[in-house]
Amino acid sequence: MSMTMTYLHTFYVVRDDPTNNVPDNIFSKLGVHLHRRDQHPLGILKNAIYEYFDTHYSNKFNKFDDLCPIVSVKQNFDDVLVPEDHVSRSYNDTYYIDPQTVLRCHTSAHQAELLRTEYTHFLVTGDVYRRDSIDSTHYPVFHQMEGFRVFVPEEWEASGMDATLFAATDLKQCLEGLARHLFGAVEMRWVDTYFPFTNPSFELEIYFKEKWLEVLGCGVTEQEILKRNGKPNNVAWAFGLGLERLAMVLFDIPDIRLFWSNDERFTSQFSKGQLGVKFKPFSKYPPCYKDMSFWINESFTENNLCEVVRGIAGDLVEEVQLIDNFTNKKGMTSHCYRIAYRSMERSLTDEEINDLQWKVREQVQSKLNVVLR
Ligand code: PHE
Repeated sequence: MSMTMTYLHTFYVVRDDPTNNVPDNIFSKLGVHLHRRDQHPLGILKNAIYEYFDTHYSNKFNKFDDLCPIVSVKQNFDDVLVPEDHVSRSYNDTYYIDPQTVLRCHTSAHQAELLRTEYTHFLVTGDVYRRDSIDSTHYPVFHQMEGFRVFVPEEWEASGMDATLFAATDLKQCLEGLARHLFGAVEMRWVDTYFPFTNPSFELEIYFKEKWLEVLGCGVTEQEILKRNGKPNNVAWAFGLGLERLAMVLFDIPDIRLFWSNDERFTSQFSKGQLGVKFKPFSKYPPCYKDMSFWINESFTENNLCEVVRGIAGDLVEEVQLIDNFTNKKGMTSHCYRIAYRSMERSLTDEEINDLQWKVREQVQSKLNVVLR
Protein backbone atom coordinates (compact mmCIF):
# COMPACT_ATOMS: atom_id res chain seq x y z
CA MET A 1 0.00 0.00 0.00
CA SER A 2 1.43 3.37 -0.91
CA MET A 3 1.26 6.06 1.70
CA THR A 4 0.70 9.56 0.50
CA MET A 5 2.10 12.02 2.98
CA THR A 6 0.94 15.58 2.90
CA TYR A 7 2.76 18.31 4.69
CA LEU A 8 0.46 20.81 6.30
CA HIS A 9 0.99 23.19 9.20
CA THR A 10 3.70 20.90 10.59
CA PHE A 11 1.33 17.90 10.61
CA TYR A 12 2.07 14.83 8.59
CA VAL A 13 -1.21 13.39 7.42
CA VAL A 14 -1.46 9.85 6.18
CA ARG A 15 -3.97 10.15 3.36
CA ASP A 16 -5.01 6.55 2.91
CA ASP A 17 -5.33 5.53 6.52
CA PRO A 18 -8.52 3.43 6.49
CA THR A 19 -9.98 5.54 9.29
CA ASN A 20 -9.52 8.68 7.22
CA ASN A 21 -12.84 9.73 5.67
CA VAL A 22 -11.63 13.04 4.19
CA PRO A 23 -11.98 13.02 0.39
CA ASP A 24 -9.54 15.01 -1.73
CA ASN A 25 -12.17 17.59 -2.73
CA ILE A 26 -12.52 18.47 0.96
CA PHE A 27 -8.87 18.24 1.82
CA SER A 28 -8.06 20.70 -0.93
CA LYS A 29 -10.06 23.39 0.90
CA LEU A 30 -7.58 23.56 3.77
CA GLY A 31 -5.55 26.71 3.55
CA VAL A 32 -7.86 28.46 1.04
CA HIS A 33 -8.82 30.92 3.79
CA LEU A 34 -11.77 32.68 2.15
CA HIS A 35 -12.33 34.52 5.44
CA ARG A 36 -8.95 36.22 5.12
CA ARG A 37 -9.71 37.86 1.77
CA ASP A 38 -10.66 41.49 2.28
CA GLN A 39 -12.52 41.62 -1.03
CA HIS A 40 -14.52 38.47 -0.52
CA PRO A 41 -17.97 38.53 1.13
CA LEU A 42 -16.70 36.40 4.03
CA GLY A 43 -13.68 38.61 4.64
CA ILE A 44 -15.82 41.73 4.39
CA LEU A 45 -18.25 40.30 6.91
CA LYS A 46 -15.46 39.27 9.28
CA ASN A 47 -14.02 42.78 9.13
CA ALA A 48 -17.44 44.34 9.75
CA ILE A 49 -17.90 42.18 12.87
CA TYR A 50 -14.41 43.11 14.04
CA GLU A 51 -15.35 46.74 13.64
CA TYR A 52 -18.42 46.28 15.85
CA PHE A 53 -16.39 44.61 18.59
CA ASP A 54 -13.52 47.08 18.35
CA THR A 55 -15.80 50.08 18.75
CA HIS A 56 -18.10 48.65 21.41
CA TYR A 57 -15.43 47.01 23.52
CA SER A 58 -12.48 49.39 22.90
CA ASN A 59 -10.32 46.77 21.16
CA LYS A 60 -10.55 44.38 24.06
CA PHE A 61 -11.25 41.29 21.96
CA ASN A 62 -8.24 39.33 20.76
CA LYS A 63 -8.66 38.11 17.21
CA PHE A 64 -7.52 34.84 15.70
CA ASP A 65 -8.16 33.83 12.11
CA ASP A 66 -5.33 31.45 11.35
CA LEU A 67 -5.63 28.60 13.85
CA CYS A 68 -5.10 25.22 12.20
CA PRO A 69 -8.38 23.43 11.34
CA ILE A 70 -6.82 20.04 12.05
CA VAL A 71 -7.51 19.48 15.75
CA SER A 72 -7.64 16.60 18.18
CA VAL A 73 -10.83 14.79 19.14
CA LYS A 74 -10.13 16.14 22.61
CA GLN A 75 -10.15 19.75 21.42
CA ASN A 76 -13.15 19.36 19.15
CA PHE A 77 -15.34 17.31 21.50
CA ASP A 78 -14.00 16.42 24.98
CA ASP A 79 -12.85 19.91 25.95
CA VAL A 80 -16.32 21.30 25.21
CA LEU A 81 -18.10 18.48 27.05
CA VAL A 82 -19.64 16.77 24.02
CA PRO A 83 -20.91 13.42 25.37
CA GLU A 84 -19.17 10.21 24.31
CA ASP A 85 -22.25 9.02 22.40
CA HIS A 86 -23.20 12.33 20.73
CA VAL A 87 -23.99 11.95 16.99
CA SER A 88 -21.61 14.73 16.03
CA ARG A 89 -18.71 12.43 16.96
CA SER A 90 -19.71 9.84 14.35
CA TYR A 91 -17.83 9.22 11.10
CA ASN A 92 -21.12 10.02 9.42
CA ASP A 93 -21.08 13.61 10.67
CA THR A 94 -17.41 14.48 11.11
CA TYR A 95 -14.29 14.22 8.96
CA TYR A 96 -11.64 12.14 10.71
CA ILE A 97 -7.98 12.17 9.73
CA ASP A 98 -7.31 9.35 12.15
CA PRO A 99 -9.18 8.14 15.24
CA GLN A 100 -7.74 10.96 17.39
CA THR A 101 -7.72 13.75 14.82
CA VAL A 102 -10.52 15.58 13.02
CA LEU A 103 -11.15 18.56 10.79
CA ARG A 104 -12.77 20.85 13.37
CA CYS A 105 -16.53 20.88 13.04
CA HIS A 106 -16.81 24.14 14.95
CA THR A 107 -14.59 26.96 16.14
CA SER A 108 -15.55 26.02 19.71
CA ALA A 109 -12.66 23.56 19.40
CA HIS A 110 -10.36 26.44 20.39
CA GLN A 111 -12.20 27.68 23.49
CA ALA A 112 -10.30 25.65 26.06
CA GLU A 113 -6.78 26.27 24.81
CA LEU A 114 -7.35 30.02 24.54
CA LEU A 115 -8.89 30.17 28.01
CA ARG A 116 -5.89 28.34 29.43
CA THR A 117 -3.61 30.82 27.70
CA GLU A 118 -5.31 33.52 29.76
CA TYR A 119 -7.39 35.09 27.01
CA THR A 120 -10.66 36.44 28.41
CA HIS A 121 -12.12 38.18 25.33
CA PHE A 122 -11.59 36.55 21.96
CA LEU A 123 -12.93 36.06 18.44
CA VAL A 124 -11.84 33.01 16.46
CA THR A 125 -12.66 32.88 12.75
CA GLY A 126 -11.98 29.86 10.59
CA ASP A 127 -13.07 27.18 8.18
CA VAL A 128 -15.06 24.32 9.71
CA TYR A 129 -15.96 20.96 8.19
CA ARG A 130 -19.08 18.82 8.42
CA ARG A 131 -20.47 15.90 6.48
CA ASP A 132 -23.99 16.96 5.62
CA SER A 133 -26.80 17.00 3.10
CA ILE A 134 -26.64 19.11 -0.08
CA ASP A 135 -28.75 22.19 -0.73
CA SER A 136 -28.36 25.92 -1.29
CA THR A 137 -27.45 26.70 2.34
CA HIS A 138 -25.30 23.64 3.18
CA TYR A 139 -21.76 22.99 2.07
CA PRO A 140 -19.31 20.59 3.75
CA VAL A 141 -16.86 23.41 4.39
CA PHE A 142 -18.06 26.68 5.83
CA HIS A 143 -16.82 29.40 8.13
CA GLN A 144 -17.61 30.30 11.69
CA MET A 145 -16.68 33.01 14.10
CA GLU A 146 -16.52 32.11 17.75
CA GLY A 147 -16.89 34.84 20.35
CA PHE A 148 -16.00 34.36 23.98
CA ARG A 149 -16.15 36.73 26.93
CA VAL A 150 -15.22 36.09 30.55
CA PHE A 151 -16.62 38.21 33.38
CA VAL A 152 -15.18 38.79 36.85
CA PRO A 153 -17.43 38.75 39.96
CA GLU A 154 -17.42 42.56 40.35
CA GLU A 155 -19.18 42.87 37.00
CA TRP A 156 -22.30 40.87 37.87
CA GLU A 157 -22.29 41.78 41.57
CA ALA A 158 -22.75 45.43 40.67
CA SER A 159 -25.81 44.52 38.58
CA GLY A 160 -27.77 42.79 41.34
CA MET A 161 -28.47 39.90 38.91
CA ASP A 162 -27.20 36.40 39.42
CA ALA A 163 -24.15 35.53 37.36
CA THR A 164 -25.91 33.40 34.74
CA LEU A 165 -28.74 35.83 34.09
CA PHE A 166 -26.21 38.66 33.91
CA ALA A 167 -24.14 36.85 31.28
CA ALA A 168 -27.19 35.78 29.26
CA THR A 169 -28.55 39.33 29.23
CA ASP A 170 -25.21 40.78 28.18
CA LEU A 171 -24.84 38.14 25.46
CA LYS A 172 -28.22 38.86 23.89
CA GLN A 173 -27.61 42.60 23.98
CA CYS A 174 -24.25 42.15 22.35
CA LEU A 175 -25.58 39.98 19.52
CA GLU A 176 -28.69 42.07 18.90
CA GLY A 177 -26.37 45.07 18.65
CA LEU A 178 -24.21 43.18 16.18
CA ALA A 179 -27.24 42.21 14.07
CA ARG A 180 -28.34 45.86 13.94
CA HIS A 181 -24.79 46.94 13.06
CA LEU A 182 -24.77 44.51 10.13
CA PHE A 183 -28.37 44.61 8.94
CA GLY A 184 -30.00 47.75 10.22
CA ALA A 185 -33.59 46.67 10.60
CA VAL A 186 -34.14 42.98 10.19
CA GLU A 187 -36.65 40.55 11.65
CA MET A 188 -35.02 38.27 14.20
CA ARG A 189 -36.00 35.90 16.97
CA TRP A 190 -34.38 33.96 19.80
CA VAL A 191 -35.03 30.25 20.09
CA ASP A 192 -34.10 28.16 23.14
CA THR A 193 -31.89 25.24 22.28
CA TYR A 194 -29.28 22.82 23.62
CA PHE A 195 -25.49 22.76 23.32
CA PRO A 196 -23.30 20.60 25.55
CA PHE A 197 -21.01 23.55 26.31
CA THR A 198 -23.54 26.24 27.25
CA ASN A 199 -26.49 26.52 29.58
CA PRO A 200 -28.83 28.20 28.92
CA SER A 201 -28.37 28.02 25.14
CA PHE A 202 -30.00 30.04 22.39
CA GLU A 203 -30.14 30.32 18.63
CA LEU A 204 -30.66 33.51 16.71
CA GLU A 205 -32.75 33.25 13.57
CA ILE A 206 -33.14 35.84 10.85
CA TYR A 207 -36.05 36.07 8.44
CA PHE A 208 -34.75 35.57 4.91
CA LYS A 209 -36.54 34.65 1.69
CA GLU A 210 -39.75 33.68 3.49
CA LYS A 211 -37.94 31.42 5.93
CA TRP A 212 -36.37 31.63 9.37
CA LEU A 213 -32.64 31.00 8.93
CA GLU A 214 -30.50 29.97 11.87
CA VAL A 215 -27.42 32.17 11.89
CA LEU A 216 -25.79 31.56 15.25
CA GLY A 217 -25.75 29.48 18.39
CA CYS A 218 -24.75 30.86 21.77
CA GLY A 219 -25.17 30.65 25.50
CA VAL A 220 -23.69 30.93 28.95
CA THR A 221 -20.59 28.73 29.16
CA GLU A 222 -20.83 25.59 31.31
CA GLN A 223 -19.05 26.23 34.60
CA GLU A 224 -17.13 22.97 34.16
CA ILE A 225 -15.26 24.43 31.16
CA LEU A 226 -14.19 27.48 33.14
CA LYS A 227 -13.21 25.34 36.11
CA ARG A 228 -11.07 23.00 34.02
CA ASN A 229 -9.26 25.89 32.41
CA GLY A 230 -8.29 27.91 35.44
CA LYS A 231 -11.30 30.23 35.79
CA PRO A 232 -13.40 28.66 38.58
CA ASN A 233 -14.72 31.97 39.93
CA ASN A 234 -15.82 33.54 36.66
CA VAL A 235 -18.77 33.32 34.29
CA ALA A 236 -18.57 33.57 30.53
CA TRP A 237 -20.64 33.65 27.38
CA ALA A 238 -19.87 32.18 23.99
CA PHE A 239 -21.34 32.33 20.51
CA GLY A 240 -20.60 30.62 17.22
CA LEU A 241 -21.82 32.39 14.14
CA GLY A 242 -22.09 31.00 10.61
CA LEU A 243 -20.46 33.48 8.26
CA GLU A 244 -21.96 32.08 5.03
CA ARG A 245 -25.51 32.20 6.35
CA LEU A 246 -25.12 35.80 7.45
CA ALA A 247 -23.36 36.77 4.24
CA MET A 248 -26.09 35.18 2.11
CA VAL A 249 -28.63 37.42 3.80
CA LEU A 250 -26.46 40.53 3.80
CA PHE A 251 -25.27 40.37 0.21
CA ASP A 252 -28.26 38.53 -1.27
CA ILE A 253 -26.18 35.54 -2.33
CA PRO A 254 -28.58 32.80 -3.41
CA ASP A 255 -26.36 29.72 -3.23
CA ILE A 256 -23.60 28.80 -0.81
CA ARG A 257 -21.40 27.36 -3.59
CA LEU A 258 -20.89 30.87 -4.95
CA PHE A 259 -18.50 31.69 -2.09
CA TRP A 260 -16.02 29.27 -3.67
CA SER A 261 -16.38 30.67 -7.17
CA ASN A 262 -13.40 32.18 -8.90
CA ASP A 263 -15.63 33.54 -11.64
CA GLU A 264 -14.70 37.15 -12.09
CA ARG A 265 -18.39 38.04 -12.49
CA PHE A 266 -18.79 37.02 -8.85
CA THR A 267 -15.52 38.16 -7.31
CA SER A 268 -15.47 41.58 -8.98
CA GLN A 269 -18.74 42.55 -7.29
CA PHE A 270 -16.99 42.70 -3.91
CA SER A 271 -13.90 44.62 -4.95
CA LYS A 272 -14.85 47.63 -2.80
CA GLY A 273 -14.32 45.48 0.27
CA GLN A 274 -17.37 46.92 2.01
CA LEU A 275 -20.84 46.02 3.21
CA GLY A 276 -23.83 47.45 1.38
CA VAL A 277 -23.37 45.59 -1.91
CA LYS A 278 -26.21 43.42 -3.19
CA PHE A 279 -25.09 40.60 -5.42
CA LYS A 280 -26.39 40.83 -9.01
CA PRO A 281 -26.77 37.34 -10.45
CA PHE A 282 -24.92 37.36 -13.78
CA SER A 283 -27.32 34.82 -15.18
CA LYS A 284 -29.30 31.90 -13.98
CA TYR A 285 -28.42 28.80 -15.87
CA PRO A 286 -31.15 26.17 -15.92
CA PRO A 287 -31.02 23.29 -13.44
CA CYS A 288 -31.32 19.73 -14.63
CA TYR A 289 -33.02 17.11 -12.45
CA LYS A 290 -32.20 13.41 -12.34
CA ASP A 291 -34.04 10.90 -10.18
CA MET A 292 -32.56 7.73 -8.81
CA SER A 293 -34.28 4.97 -6.79
CA PHE A 294 -32.68 2.19 -4.84
CA TRP A 295 -33.22 -0.27 -2.00
CA ILE A 296 -31.21 0.90 0.98
CA ASN A 297 -29.34 -1.27 3.49
CA GLU A 298 -28.81 -0.71 7.25
CA SER A 299 -25.61 1.25 6.80
CA PHE A 300 -27.07 3.68 4.25
CA THR A 301 -26.97 7.35 5.22
CA GLU A 302 -27.88 10.43 3.27
CA ASN A 303 -24.54 12.03 4.17
CA ASN A 304 -22.69 9.15 2.52
CA LEU A 305 -24.82 9.51 -0.59
CA CYS A 306 -24.12 13.24 -0.70
CA GLU A 307 -20.40 12.62 -0.36
CA VAL A 308 -20.47 10.26 -3.36
CA VAL A 309 -22.43 12.77 -5.44
CA ARG A 310 -20.17 15.66 -4.44
CA GLY A 311 -17.11 13.53 -5.14
CA ILE A 312 -18.24 13.14 -8.76
CA ALA A 313 -20.11 16.32 -9.56
CA GLY A 314 -18.24 18.72 -7.27
CA ASP A 315 -19.88 22.14 -7.26
CA LEU A 316 -22.15 21.20 -10.18
CA VAL A 317 -24.56 19.60 -7.74
CA GLU A 318 -27.02 22.04 -6.26
CA GLU A 319 -29.32 19.82 -4.24
CA VAL A 320 -29.92 16.21 -3.30
CA GLN A 321 -33.44 15.68 -2.09
CA LEU A 322 -35.34 12.65 -0.86
CA ILE A 323 -38.60 12.72 -2.82
CA ASP A 324 -40.01 9.27 -2.09
CA ASN A 325 -39.57 6.71 0.64
CA PHE A 326 -41.48 3.49 1.27
CA THR A 327 -41.05 0.08 2.87
CA ASN A 328 -42.55 -2.99 1.18
CA LYS A 329 -44.15 -6.05 2.82
CA LYS A 330 -40.81 -7.81 2.97
CA GLY A 331 -39.42 -4.93 5.01
CA MET A 332 -37.22 -3.57 2.22
CA THR A 333 -36.98 0.21 2.12
CA SER A 334 -36.72 2.15 -1.10
CA HIS A 335 -35.53 5.73 -1.43
CA CYS A 336 -35.91 7.96 -4.41
CA TYR A 337 -33.56 10.94 -4.58
CA ARG A 338 -33.78 13.86 -6.94
CA ILE A 339 -30.43 15.37 -7.82
CA ALA A 340 -30.37 18.91 -9.15
CA TYR A 341 -27.37 19.73 -11.31
CA ARG A 342 -26.63 23.34 -12.10
CA SER A 343 -23.52 25.34 -12.70
CA MET A 344 -23.29 28.83 -11.30
CA GLU A 345 -21.08 29.81 -14.22
CA ARG A 346 -22.26 28.22 -17.45
CA SER A 347 -24.85 26.00 -19.16
CA LEU A 348 -24.29 22.30 -18.76
CA THR A 349 -24.80 20.04 -21.77
CA ASP A 350 -27.10 17.00 -21.68
CA GLU A 351 -24.13 14.83 -22.43
CA GLU A 352 -22.16 16.15 -19.48
CA ILE A 353 -25.06 15.66 -17.08
CA ASN A 354 -25.82 12.16 -18.34
CA ASP A 355 -22.18 11.30 -17.87
CA LEU A 356 -22.21 12.61 -14.29
CA GLN A 357 -25.43 10.80 -13.49
CA TRP A 358 -24.06 7.57 -14.95
CA LYS A 359 -20.99 7.80 -12.72
CA VAL A 360 -23.15 8.62 -9.71
CA ARG A 361 -25.29 5.53 -10.33
CA GLU A 362 -22.20 3.38 -10.68
CA GLN A 363 -20.55 4.61 -7.49
CA VAL A 364 -23.74 4.62 -5.46
CA GLN A 365 -23.93 0.90 -6.15
CA SER A 366 -20.27 0.08 -5.67
CA LYS A 367 -19.54 2.33 -2.67
CA LEU A 368 -22.82 2.26 -0.79
CA ASN A 369 -23.81 -1.31 -1.67
CA VAL A 370 -27.38 -0.39 -2.48
CA VAL A 371 -29.49 -1.99 -5.19
CA LEU A 372 -30.69 0.35 -7.91
CA ARG A 373 -34.27 -0.14 -9.02
N1 PHE B 1 -20.39 25.44 18.26
C1 PHE B 1 -21.80 25.66 18.02
C2 PHE B 1 -22.13 25.18 16.61
O1 PHE B 1 -21.26 25.03 15.82
C3 PHE B 1 -22.17 27.10 18.15
C4 PHE B 1 -21.96 27.64 19.54
C5 PHE B 1 -20.79 28.26 19.90
C6 PHE B 1 -22.98 27.53 20.47
C7 PHE B 1 -20.61 28.75 21.18
C8 PHE B 1 -22.82 28.02 21.75
C9 PHE B 1 -21.65 28.63 22.10
O2 PHE B 1 -23.26 24.95 16.27
